[in-house]
Amino acid sequence: MYMCGDHITFELSMKQLMSVDPGEWSRNLMKEYMLMIEGFFSIPIALFSPTYRKAIKARGKVVDALSLVVRERRRESEKGGERKNDMLAALLAGDGGVGFSDEEIVDFLVSLLVAGYETTSTSMTLAVKFLTETPLALAQLKDEHDEIRARKGEVEALEWEDYKSMPFTHCVVNETLRIANIIGGVFRRAMTDVTIKDYTIPKGWKVFASLRAVHLNPEYFKDARTFNPWRWQSNSGEINTANVFTPFGGGPRRCPGYELAKVELAVFLHHLVTRLSWVPAEEDKLVFFPTTRMQKRYPIIIQHQEKPASKV
Ligand code: HEM
Repeated sequence: MYMCGDHITFELSMKQLMSVDPGEWSRNLMKEYMLMIEGFFSIPIALFSPTYRKAIKARGKVVDALSLVVRERRRESEKGGERKNDMLAALLAGDGGVGFSDEEIVDFLVSLLVAGYETTSTSMTLAVKFLTETPLALAQLKDEHDEIRARKGEVEALEWEDYKSMPFTHCVVNETLRIANIIGGVFRRAMTDVTIKDYTIPKGWKVFASLRAVHLNPEYFKDARTFNPWRWQSNSGEINTANVFTPFGGGPRRCPGYELAKVELAVFLHHLVTRLSWVPAEEDKLVFFPTTRMQKRYPIIIQHQEKPASKV
């Protein structure tokens, strides 16, 4: 039995951030990390909330584990060791002209894990759920990826050109992000009086812009609660979504990981549909509070696909 998305994205994040290969160390770190995340949605008073107490303890362990790696890597780089191709190397080298202390680097790594890991893995999980419930979309997606695989042979890695030649996958990714609303909205503070339609938001007020309310508005998206990846095809006749589709927020604070997240989703779907078939392992439910996720993390039973007999 397999929980969609979870381990893959955590391992991927560890690789991108600090070149750590999958193994016991990252598995243990992930356990502590999950405890830490649970604390985000608890009453932040240690005396009353065991979840919060556990989360604080877990954050300490995550910070200790990452601090060790940062110290070790700083030592290596000061000795003139070979520079690795990851985020930690850039932070240690002060690329962009800023030098960071070890503490700042660890804080940065934790923030990136929080912003980039759970969001992407939950989106992957929901993509699997929506596709499982929409067999026509799954079949079309599989055709698209089987075609790419047939072009490339069995083991050759995907390249940017391949990513650009997955039109239906982009529709599936957009539609997943639209319905999932992993981040339901963003906060903004009015720097000056702002008038929108007949309302004035006074300077200094905080506003919560609900991305979910817009993405599920039937004025913009017909049958807004239905997973319909075809609506993103240019000939679908749906409205121009440029201003109303903002799963990554907008303006100067728009998610800096937006392109990475979309590539990760597409690559995940490629390997999933070309190698595996699956069925849900048990009943599960989509919940929206405190965050959007599947209640049981959508466990599935997977099977490796039989390879077609090679042509003579
Ligand atoms: C499906 C995956 C993801 C979704 C839906 C998502 C969504 C968002 C949203 C809505 C915001 C707030 C933007 C705003 O205030 O306008 C945000 C901020 C941010 N995201 Fe993402 N994100 C995803 C993946 C990632 C990844 C992979 C990374 C990095 C590896 C990342 C890093 C960040 C950071 C650092 C911020 C804060 C930016 C700032 O405040 O200036 N995110 N994300």
